[in-house]
Amino acid sequence: MKENILVTGSNGQLGRELQLLQSLIPNYNLLFFDSKLWNITDDNRSHELFSLYKPKVLINCAAYTAVDLAESQVELAYAINSNAVNSLAQICANTNTLLIHISTDYVFHGNSAEALKEDSPKNPQGIYAKSKSKGEDYIIASKAKYLIIRTSWVYSQFGSNFVKTMLKLAETKTELSVVNDQLGCPTHAASIARFLTYLLTHFSLEELYSKTGIYHYSDANPTNWNAFAKKIFELTNRDIRVNAISTAAFNAKANRPLFSVLNTEKVKKTFEYTIDDWEVELKKCLALLNE
Ligand SMILES: NC(=O)c1ccc[n+]([C@@H]2O[C@H](COP(=O)([O-])OP(=O)(O)OC[C@H]3O[C@@H](n4cnc5c(N)ncnc54)[C@H](OP(=O)(O)O)[C@@H]3O)[C@@H](O)[C@H]2O)c1
Repeated sequence: MKENILVTGSNGQLGRELQLLQSLIPNYNLLFFDSKLWNITDDNRSHELFSLYKPKVLINCAAYTAVDLAESQVELAYAINSNAVNSLAQICANTNTLLIHISTDYVFHGNSAEALKEDSPKNPQGIYAKSKSKGEDYIIASKAKYLIIRTSWVYSQFGSNFVKTMLKLAETKTELSVVNDQLGCPTHAASIARFLTYLLTHFSLEELYSKTGIYHYSDANPTNWNAFAKKIFELTNRDIRVNAISTAAFNAKANRPLFSVLNTEKVKKTFEYTIDDWEVELKKCLALLNE
């Protein structure tokens, strides 16, 4: 009989991309739960689902991801991104379940000149970043086997994200201002889903257990949001003027790191995996959006 894998947050960007790939993971039985079927802050529900399905792996795609709104929904952000993650990590530890958890480049905040490694010092700013960072800390402190996968600037054909926002704005505007002083790597949620698929099909559970730790995964080749926007319009043949604006002038509610380029050497070496440039992935996403 196939072992079960439980996936939380199945209606989010990553959750939905993973659902599309489930037939490529024939060695496991993937069970997807959206926030209605499994609210991860409901510990009783979490225990119930673990006793029912006895999973070997939990993929936690659920998260509170509204970065600016988190500044005024502090308790909710911590409940989902920290406390619920703590509970899941405890259950995973007690049931010998591998926890694959997704985290964020926002745990960093600085002006590093070099791509950030897994052990670079964290300095989360803002509630979203702090709540995600605390979630990581809980997992690491638990006795669970885990893969914490930090990623950055996620977009996809699903949900709300930068690519879809730019395309929507282009319907009514001919000129936009987009920040040009944050450096990072846009990452297609489908790219992360493909990587997870690779992990689950190329490594045994024992191998994955033995690789417990933090890994950085983003599409390759750093850029800034302004250049990213220009590329979206170039590839979709839209004649939109994209002005440069500083992060300070943009004045979002939550602080964003000016530099959050993740060094992905560890993931590439450990798992012998190749990551494409973000432009290659952007083209794939635009094709999925029929652009
Ligand atoms: N988006 C980014 O730019 C970015 C960057 C770096 C890292 N990440 C991380 O990548 C992971 C996946 O992100 P994503 O972009 O796929 O996020 P997303 O599209 O916002 O999806 C998150 C999902 O979590 C669900 N959720 C929220 N609260 C929940 C709860 N209490 N119980 C169960 N499910 C709950 C949401 O359900 P509803 O649909 O019902 O709200 C949503 O479907 C997250 O851990 C995020 O922190 C994201």
